[in-house]
Amino acid sequence: MSAQKIGVIGGGLMGHGIAYLLAAAGHAIGVFEPTPELRATLPKRLRAIADLFGDNAALLENVSAHDQLAPAVAGTSFVFEAAPEKLPLKQKIFAELESAVTPDAILASNSSAIPPTEIGRHLKHRERVVGTHFWNPPHLVPLVEVIESEKTSGEVLRATMELLRDAGKTPVHVRRDVPGFVGNRLQHALKREAIALVAAGVCDAETIDIVVKEGPGARMAVLGPMEQSDLVGLDLTLDIADVLYADLDCTAGPPHAFLRQKVSDGKLGMKTGEGFRRWTAESAGAVRERLSGFLVQQAKARRKSVT
Ligand SMILES: NC(=O)c1ccc[n+]([C@@H]2O[C@H](COP(=O)([O-])OP(=O)(O)OC[C@H]3O[C@@H](n4cnc5c(N)ncnc54)[C@H](O)[C@@H]3O)[C@@H](O)[C@H]2O)c1
Repeated sequence: MSAQKIGVIGGGLMGHGIAYLLAAAGHAIGVFEPTPELRATLPKRLRAIADLFGDNAALLENVSAHDQLAPAVAGTSFVFEAAPEKLPLKQKIFAELESAVTPDAILASNSSAIPPTEIGRHLKHRERVVGTHFWNPPHLVPLVEVIESEKTSGEVLRATMELLRDAGKTPVHVRRDVPGFVGNRLQHALKREAIALVAAGVCDAETIDIVVKEGPGARMAVLGPMEQSDLVGLDLTLDIADVLYADLDCTAGPPHAFLRQKVSDGKLGMKTGEGFRRWTAESAGAVRERLSGFLVQQAKARRKSVT
């Protein structure tokens, strides 16, 4: 795909990673970040990603930071919105975008959970609104869920998938904007069962993490659940499901009281020193390092395999 001019709205955690990966693909990026401190640290945060990959920092000249929306998106063919997760704010940003870009520019939201249909509901050109759900950190995790709203046109979906594929991502088409899209629904179905098992005293939280990492997780990066079912046979899958499903925690009710209690006790995880497990600054730092080291290694291997 030829070089495009692309806008990124919000230069926070997700926005700066999205800006980096698109700049690394050769596009010119304008970032609108209203908070002066975050605007000031943008070059440093982008340079840190270039260092991770060992990329030439000259590619950062493709990124400009702006304190206003209009100059950041002037002349763009795509805009990726990565502003805070509030529907009224996102609707306001999209209304401003509609008057700042041409009607054929594609407007994508990185919302984690808000349907793109709602974000674009009051726009004149709703066919150009699409969800693009990147995973954190967006420059390292390959998946982007491309979510079709009630109005997204086929051409907008095609062009969005193409742009992302060319930038080295793995875009997938989600045909309806159901809450949580696909990835978070799967992730939270697993978490729901994990929380219920710990709450029932079947095992402790550390054991859950070992079971997932050393068991199904050890193969999940190369074997998805549908192909795993086909691999072992749907007859066995059905036999297990017959025994298991009635006993799974699959109520349609609210989140487990065990989770709610942790939150109201201020046990929020690594940031407070305790969540499901207990953490010190060192043990939490080690988890972050292990994750980042693994993702960088995977991302570098993927880059090598396509060059
Ligand atoms: N953090 C994650 O793991 C993750 C993963 C996938 C998707 N998302 C989604 O991405 C979006 C951004 O999340 P984040 O984690 O990067 O948040 P963040 O708080 O790190 O970044 C949001 C940025 O938007 C800026 N901002 C505030 N008001 C704005 C406005 N009116 N216009 C433009 N920018 C504005 C903030 O200054 C901030 O820099 C959210 O919709 C979130 O749900 C987050």
